[in-house]
Order: sequence, then structure tokens, then C-alpha cells
Amino acid sequence: ANSEAGQLIALHQRAAQLYHHILVNTPAGAVARAYLKRRGMTDDLVEQFQLGYAPEQRVLKAFCDQQKIDYQILRKSGLFTEDQAGELHDRFVDRVIYPIKNQRGQVIAFSGRLLSTANNDLPKYLNSPETLIFNKRRTLFNLDVARKDAKQTGKIYLFEGFMDVISAYGAGVSNGIASMGTSFTEEQVAIIQRSTPQLDICYDGDSAGQNAIDRAIKLVDQEATGNMVTRIVQLPAGIDPDEYVQKYGGEKFKKYLSQHEETVVDFYLRFFRNDRNLGQQSELINYLDQSLKVIAKVTSPVEQDMYLGRLADEFSLDKAALKSQLVQLSEQLG
Ligand code: GTP
Ligand code: MN
Ligand code: MN
Ligand code: MN
Ligand code: MN
Repeated sequence: ANSEAGQLIALHQRAAQLYHHILVNTPAGAVARAYLKRRGMTDDLVEQFQLGYAPEQRVLKAFCDQQKIDYQILRKSGLFTEDQAGELHDRFVDRVIYPIKNQRGQVIAFSGRLLSTANNDLPKYLNSPETLIFNKRRTLFNLDVARKDAKQTGKIYLFEGFMDVISAYGAGVSNGIASMGTSFTEEQVAIIQRSTPQLDICYDGDSAGQNAIDRAIKLVDQEATGNMVTRIVQLPAGIDPDEYVQKYGGEKFKKYLSQHEETVVDFYLRFFRNDRNLGQQSELINYLDQSLKVIAKVTSPVEQDMYLGRLADEFSLDKAALKSQLVQLSEQLG
């Protein structure tokens, strides 16, 4: 493949090898090795994800010059910044490198993480810019691996971050993916839909994570045309999947995932309680109204009945009254 895309991919594969080599085999990689070890990254995980390190001393440009890689290809790769004189300089400096792959498993971009976020104005993660081969809106970290796994397990887990995907993999959960940064796009929904019959959203257990789950559900709802099932796994407060694995171990993490899978309605029945005092009648009415609107969208009458039964029990309400309000709302919503 001598096409421009082919050359850009070849460059990324070589760059990934270089960064990986520096991390694993050189004195310049020692600090990053220690960092990853401290974060529980085993040698196997470093290999599987081909993690690397871009050292403080810029090495990629010199390497490319030595390999006589075409200047225009270097310019278009996103791996360099260009100064006013047209000189190229390594974009990734003193960062742990996470290679980003396309669905065929080819490296098309990188994300680089600071070793320390203390006293640092730089972004924690720096991603490659968009290029001919890297469209952020269409890219999902680890999708090449996760979609194969989904053929057996029938599902894919959507996590927030790269480290969540990697730690989950270490725990034996190899069907995890993450979007580039926190934005989850309609293009990604379409791609996921083609890769799995079920998507489990497992974001960080903080309020930002919960709000992001709400947005992700709405996006899937809007964009998914087939019959992909959406489930939620809500983590304990203040913890992300990577932290859960490091704290409690892989076995517990897997158990947590399997035991805490809930429906979209389950999620909203909890989510709508946030910042609400349900002991106050007006708030309870609002809560029920919001909840019934979500229940109204459920197509299975049996499932609807289960939720109504739960609300009736919890708030000592007449299930028939809830049901008739649900019917009213359904008519309003069309
Ligand atoms: P760790 O601190 O390494 O465990 O990362 P994290 O994945 O837990 O980070 P966080 O929950 O803060 O963010 C989730 C994801 O958002 C990350 O994996 C990144 O993809 C993205 N992200 C976080 N910080 C930045 C940033 O400064 N810039 C960009 N572009 N993306 C970021
Ligand atoms: Mn290796
Ligand atoms: Mn977060
Ligand atoms: Mn996180
Ligand atoms: Mn984290």
C-alpha cells in the first residue's frame, strides 16, 4: 500500500514500535515503566496494548529522518507540530503513549498521558489531531478486539477512558471500548450497532459519569436503528473501572459487572432521584411524572408492569392509578 493512507499507517506502526521500545527497553523509559507498574499495568498489558513512552528528548523526528520518510507524509501525520519555518517537532513529549487502532487493528493515532498532573497546565491526555486516517468521531479504542469478543459474549462495554479498557482487559473483560475523550458520537453509535447486539454503558461512578450515561442513552436512542439492547452498569460512587480493578481485583470487577447490569429504566429511576427530596409531595409528583415518561417508552407491557409495581410498592401508591397515568402520558407522547 503506497497510497497516502497506507504510508501514514506504516508511519504510525513504526512510531508505535519506537515508543514501545523506548518504554520497555531503554533507560529513558524507566520513569514511565515505574509509573505504569504503579498503576498495576502488567508486562502482558503493556504488550497487548503496545503501550509506549515519548521521552522528553524528542526522538521521533530524528528517527523519521533516518528512515528517510517523506516530509509531506510527516506533515500530514499529526505526529508533529510545525513551526513558522516549516520545521517539524515531535508532538508527543514526556507522555505515556496509547496507540489508537482502527477496526483492522492498524495504528492510526496516539493518545499521550502526562506522568503527573500535579502543577501542570497541560492537558492530561493529548490526542493526535484529525488526519486522513484518523477521524475521532468514528474511532473507538480497542474496538478491533472488542468486536471479536462480542461474537462470543454478545456484548460490548463502553467505558470512559483508555485505562478503564486496559484494566478491564487485564481482568478478562476484553470486550471494552472507549471513545476519544468524553464525547460519544452518532457515528460511533452506528459502528457499535454493527459490532454487537448489546451495549453496556459503564462510565465513572461520579456525577459527571452519570450525566454522561444520560447523554449516551439519549444518543443511542436517537441513532440506533436496529434492535441493539442498551444496559447500564453503574459503578460505586467516586470510582472508575480502572480504579475498581486496582482496588478490588479483576475477579470482583467481573462479578460486579455481571451483578449490576440494569436496564435504562432502572438507571433513570435512580438518576431522577438525584438532588430531589422525595419526602416532599411536589417533588415526588415530579419524580413520578419523569419516571412514567421513561416507562412509557418501554415496548414490553410485562416490563412496564414490573416498573409500575416497584413504584407502587416503594411509595405506597395504587398501581392502577399509576397505570392510568402511564396510558395518558403514552397518548400525549404519541
Ligand atoms: P486516568 O487519570 O489516566 O485514569 O484517566 P481517566 O480515563 O480516568 O480520565 P478521566 O476519567 O478524567 O477522563 C476519561 C477520558 O476522557 C480519558 O480516558 C481521555 O480519553 C479523556 N480525557 C481526560 N482528560 C483529557 C484531556 O485533558 N484532554 C483530552 N483530549 N481528553 C481527555
Ligand atoms: Mn513488546
Ligand atoms: Mn471522569
Ligand atoms: Mn476516569
Ligand atoms: Mn482513571
